Amino acid sequence: MNQRHPLSEVAETGAGRGAMQALWMPFTANRSFKNTPRLLVAAQGMHYRSDDGRSILDGTAGLWCVNAGHGREPITRAIQEQAARMDYAPSFQMGHPLEFEAAEALARIAPGRLKRVFFTNSGSESVDTALKIVLAYHRARGQGQRNVFIGRERGYHGVGFGGISVGGIAGNRKVFHGAMLPNVDHLPHTHDLERQGFARGQPAWGAHLADELERLVQLHDASNIAAVIVEPVAGSTGVLVPPQGYLQRLRAICDKHGLLLVFDEVITGYGRLGAPFAAQALGVLPDLIVSAKAVNNGTVPLGAVFVRDDLVDTVLEAAADGAIEFAHGYTYSGHPLAAAATLATQQLYADEGLLERVRRDGLDAYWEQALHSLRDSPHVRDIRNIGLMGAVELHPRPEGAGLRGHEVFTRCFEMGALVRCTADTIALSPPLIIERAHIDQLTETLRHALRDTR
Ligand SMILES: Cc1ncc(COP(=O)(O)O)c(C=O)c1O
Repeated sequence: MNQRHPLSEVAETGAGRGAMQALWMPFTANRSFKNTPRLLVAAQGMHYRSDDGRSILDGTAGLWCVNAGHGREPITRAIQEQAARMDYAPSFQMGHPLEFEAAEALARIAPGRLKRVFFTNSGSESVDTALKIVLAYHRARGQGQRNVFIGRERGYHGVGFGGISVGGIAGNRKVFHGAMLPNVDHLPHTHDLERQGFARGQPAWGAHLADELERLVQLHDASNIAAVIVEPVAGSTGVLVPPQGYLQRLRAICDKHGLLLVFDEVITGYGRLGAPFAAQALGVLPDLIVSAKAVNNGTVPLGAVFVRDDLVDTVLEAAADGAIEFAHGYTYSGHPLAAAATLATQQLYADEGLLERVRRDGLDAYWEQALHSLRDSPHVRDIRNIGLMGAVELHPRPEGAGLRGHEVFTRCFEMGALVRCTADTIALSPPLIIERAHIDQLTETLRHALRDTR
């Protein structure tokens, strides 16, 4: 018998489209959204279902987070059971076994000596936590003057004051300009359409852009610099793939001057590039890794900051016996439901080999081929890919940036595929359980949307 989905009534009656006034939606054009809402009411495997009952292929893993696909039974069960057993435990001066188990499970897949884990509730909190850990470490070893952070243009590190300060997205900084961290500088971004256009995987041109760090070191003096923070692949600004050798060069310059290197892997973490982290996939070891999202398949808010063990030891050992060593944490750090979801997710990733699948099954090559087949479609300015991430950048319309990208996004949604647009770049990052037929469907939907878009 066909089982009725519990939400099918909502879908059929349209009950989901009640009053929409009260909710102020994040990073959304609220007024236009509420005129033409797009509502999702259920999800399973590779698909969402919209409130009008349509099946929508998920080309973005939700918001880069549902790496094992939707509605995975072991994760759902773990959350349900934990909610019934113990809903919440205080996180300060108290603990519960699952948060320790979750941290151990994560430490097992972390690269190098990044075996200590601090829990937060989001990517933004993880970024700000990482910046604070860096400051605490330098202070603990008697170098408290190191307070300059180096971020990168076009970097996205969430929306906390720390994150927008080291981040390099003008639109996210403009309104808050007077309230950002004072001692921040930025590397240039690595994107160059002329020299890298339609590169497959990592572009050959651009490693030398890392040398700009040398210039910033001369300007600020190495002794004042706390850390450099970059996304290994800049996701939110349109999947900017690091040039070959670029990250290696950043690492070498950091080593030369004693600077810490932080990778923000909120998007690249948990299998997106065919290894647990981009650090492993690209062969560059940072000192801290910031993660969130797919850590528990996007089911319960959780962020995890991985820290090199000796950094943590330095902070812990600098404090007096019995004192709280690091004055930082959240009510929901290591929340029981989030921890249960993390354990179940990591088990699922291991059982299904999902963290390596993208490379092991040659999905990345198939993905690359499929995306680049759109090269001759109308409006296409560039195509970029790495692992199971991709972007199709479009020529903007003369009337304004972002209009064409938004039209492609809405057309795809109408045709049954969820893609993401940031300005005129269509970004793609499907769940790692994707099959080749889904990749074909996604590509064909985009091809049609591009053809029909003005
Ligand atoms: C690289 C990166 N850092 C940080 C964040 C912020 O994460 P959150 O939205 O969970 O705060 C994101 C979100 O997309 C991200 O892509």
